Amino acid sequence: MSSTENMVFRVQSGGALRGTFRVPGDKSISHRSIMLGSLAEGTTHITGFLEGDDSLATLKAFRSMGVSIEGPEKGQVTIQGVGKHGLKEPQAPLDLGNSGTSMRLLSGLLAGQGLALTLVGDSSLSGRPMRRVTDPLKEMGALVETTESGTAPLVIHPVKALHAIDYELPVASAQIKSCLLLAGLYAQGETRITEPAPTRDHTERMLNGFGYPVQQQGDTISLNGGGSLTACDIDIPADISSAAFFLVGASIAPDSDIVLEHVGINPTRDGVITILKLMGADIEVMNRRDVGGEPVADLRVRSAMLHGIEIPEDQVPLAIDEFPALFVAAACAEGVTRLTGAEELRVKESDRIQVMADGLKTLGADVTPTPDGIVIQGGGSLQGGRVNSHGDHRIAMAFAMAALRAQGEILIDDCSNVNTSFPGFTDLASTAGLMISVGEER
Ligand code: S3P
Repeated sequence: MSSTENMVFRVQSGGALRGTFRVPGDKSISHRSIMLGSLAEGTTHITGFLEGDDSLATLKAFRSMGVSIEGPEKGQVTIQGVGKHGLKEPQAPLDLGNSGTSMRLLSGLLAGQGLALTLVGDSSLSGRPMRRVTDPLKEMGALVETTESGTAPLVIHPVKALHAIDYELPVASAQIKSCLLLAGLYAQGETRITEPAPTRDHTERMLNGFGYPVQQQGDTISLNGGGSLTACDIDIPADISSAAFFLVGASIAPDSDIVLEHVGINPTRDGVITILKLMGADIEVMNRRDVGGEPVADLRVRSAMLHGIEIPEDQVPLAIDEFPALFVAAACAEGVTRLTGAEELRVKESDRIQVMADGLKTLGADVTPTPDGIVIQGGGSLQGGRVNSHGDHRIAMAFAMAALRAQGEILIDDCSNVNTSFPGFTDLASTAGLMISVGEER
């Protein structure tokens, strides 16, 4: 599909979700598996890799820096690691598409390589704040430029060496934390990062899995520069952020009963389960197990009468990507749901507070956006209508699920970026019972 075409989701109202499914691999872990596998010594085998545009952007970036990567073939990828100092200068700017994780983590990983590189992205990524990574990288001695307004393209100039810093994160962000840990691999001394609240810890877990020690003491994470990574095998669980649409869909649609298999339930990612349960959802966490250092489970979800809640602020970083889906749950719940402390939602792939508020209003819901959250008065019925995802994958999928409880058909514009995180969404959702079809318009 060319960029002038508009992928439209058309979703009939009603239906129920039923069956047993596995959603695609975790996006955060997929990115990190390519990054660390490339820097390791030896051959890394990955299974469950997400074949979405975002993680493929990371994969292609490493290929263009000289790493031999086979696949992905049915989620399997094999990387011949080049070691920490084996990357080569690419011929052209690295195009990271829509992927904030690729750009922010790579800025740190590449800052100390002694290479000249440029990182570019699509129009959404080129509007997102990058000084949050380039400022602390400069403190480490890196030369990384943004545009005047602090956005991509990022231009990285070669430097002789980086030095470790002791840095307090101004926002709870796993991307900034991971950026600095990856830069810290190349820095002299001990890099220390203190978080205002826990954020996803996949980088720390995976570095340890590659034999690179990372310490955590309270809210401070640290590592020493100068070590090396040893290749290993990685089994990537299904992405809880993709499972979230089905957790919400099955909760709000009467007569639903689904099992989502092999879902990553890392405690720094499970806020969506906690929040939905506080709202009265019926979610059973079954067969808990550990897969390569990450906790995994099968999730059984049945329809439930949801009620509004005050969302605990400590859950916000643990559910940061799941709010579009959670807002749909809140619109279908009895009573008021109030979210605060979530201003970060305004700088995601879209302004997720405004875009969700606009769409939910179109569907007849009573919502009031606030600077750092939203107030949703649930209980009224949703009507059909035409909403715009603004090219944000998670907004598109959240509104698709809303149709399960709407009284008319929902049309969703600008949905092609669903492929960034959830290739095959419409097929899987239809198999589960959502009455969704895809059209294109110029
Ligand atoms: C991610 C961290 C989060 C999240 C993003 C993926 C990661 O971003 O929203 O989708 O893989 O580290 P922030 O660190 O900006 O909160």
